[in-house]
Amino acid sequence: MPTTIDGLEDIVATHSSICDLDGKLGKLTYFGVDIHDLANHSSFEETAYLLWHGVLPTQKQLDELRQQLCANRQLPARMLDLMRLLPTTTSPMDVLRTSISALAAFDADLQNKSAEANLQRAIRLTAMLPTIVMSWEHLRNGREPLVPLPDHSHAANLLYMLSGKLPDDYTAHAMDVALILHADHELNASTFAARVTAGTLADMYASITSAIGALSGPLHGGANEQVIRTLLKIGEVDKADAYIRNALANKQRIMGFGHRVYRTEDPRATHLRAMSKELGERQKDTRWYEMSRVIEQCVKEVKGLNANVDFYSASFYYLLGFPIELDTPIFACSRISGWTAHVLEQYANNRLIRPRAEYIGPKETPYVPINQRGA
Ligand SMILES: CC(C)(COP(=O)(O)OP(=O)(O)OC[C@H]1O[C@@H](n2cnc3c(N)ncnc32)[C@H](O)[C@@H]1OP(=O)(O)O)[C@@H](O)C(=O)NCCC(=O)NCCS
Repeated sequence: MPTTIDGLEDIVATHSSICDLDGKLGKLTYFGVDIHDLANHSSFEETAYLLWHGVLPTQKQLDELRQQLCANRQLPARMLDLMRLLPTTTSPMDVLRTSISALAAFDADLQNKSAEANLQRAIRLTAMLPTIVMSWEHLRNGREPLVPLPDHSHAANLLYMLSGKLPDDYTAHAMDVALILHADHELNASTFAARVTAGTLADMYASITSAIGALSGPLHGGANEQVIRTLLKIGEVDKADAYIRNALANKQRIMGFGHRVYRTEDPRATHLRAMSKELGERQKDTRWYEMSRVIEQCVKEVKGLNANVDFYSASFYYLLGFPIELDTPIFACSRISGWTAHVLEQYANNRLIRPRAEYIGPKETPYVPINQRGA
C-alpha cells in the first residue's frame, strides 16, 4: 500500500472544473474567472450561476435566477414548527444542520434524481439558508421570525432578515462581496464531506447536511467565530501584540491564520481586510481593524503565517451587527452555492469515494471469553 499522508495533504482526490486554487501564487478562480474580478464586478447571484452552470449568465439568465432565488426564500410552515421544538440554547449551526436534513421530508419530488431536479434543489437550498439562519436567530431570542423579502439581493435580504431594516447601498454591496468571496474553495473539508456523501448517491439534503457538520468545526468555518472572540477578549489595540506573543509562546493556535493550501496571502483576505477597514471607518469604529492589523503583523513575524479568509471576515461581520454565533452560519449562506455545485458535479460523473486506511493496530489478538477478562 502507498505511503499514508496524514490529513490527505496535497492528495489529489478528484477531477473538478469548478474551482482552481494555486496556493503558491495565491490565485483563486471559479471556472477560470479570477476571484478578484468576481469581487470587483460580480454579484453573489451571478457567481452562483457561474458555479452551477460553468459560464457567466446572460442578463436574461441572471434575471431568471434572481427571480427564482427570491421566489424560494420562504420555508415550509412546518419547518418553523420544527424549530420551535428545539431548546433555545441550540447553536445556530446545529439548527442549520438539522433543518437542512429535515427539508428532505418536504421535497415532494425527492425520488427525482435528474440533473434538472437537483439544480432546482440547489437553487431552493441557497434561497432558504438565510431564512433558516435568521428565523432561528429570532426564535432563540423569543421573537417571531421575519418574512423574507420577495425581491432584493441575497445579501440585502440576509441583512434585512436580521434587523428588519433594509441595508444602505454600501452595506448591501459589501455583504454581497463577502458572499462572493466565500462561495467556493475547491476540496475544503466541508465540500469534500458533501462529495463523499453524494458519491454514495445519497440525496442533496444528505450531502449538504454532511457539509454543514464539517463546516462547524473550529479548524474550518468555525474559525471566524473564534477570531472575534479573541478580539473581544483582547479588547484594546495596545494589548494585542503582547497577548498574541504570549499565546504563541504557549503553543496556542491563533484562529484565522494558516492554511493547508496557501503559502502566500489568501486572495480573499486581501478584500476582507479592505472591507473591514472601510466599514470601520464608515462606522467610526476602527478598533477591531487596527487590532487585527497588529495581530496579523505579529503572527507573520513570529510564525510566518498569513491571515486566511476567516480573520478579517470576523471583524467585518461584527461591525455589520451579526451576533457572533452567526458568523459560521453566514459562511454557509454563501458556501451553499459551492457545495451544491460540487454535488451536481459529483452526480454527473460519479464514482464511490472509498479510500483505504493503513492499519497500525494490534494483530492476531486472541479472543478472550468475557468471563476470563478480569474485573
Ligand atoms: C488551517 C489549518 C487547520 C491548516 O492546518 P495544517 O495544514 O494541518 O497545518 P498544521 O496544523 O500541520 O500546522 C503546521 C504548523 O503551523 C502551525 N500553525 C498552523 N496554523 C497555526 C495557527 N493558526 N496559529 C499558530 N500556529 C499555527 C502549527 O502549530 C504547526 O507548527 P509546528 O510544525 O511547529 O507544530 C491551521 O493552519 C489552523 O489550525 N489554523 C487556525 C484555524 C483556522 O483559521 N481555520 C480556518 C482555515 S480557512
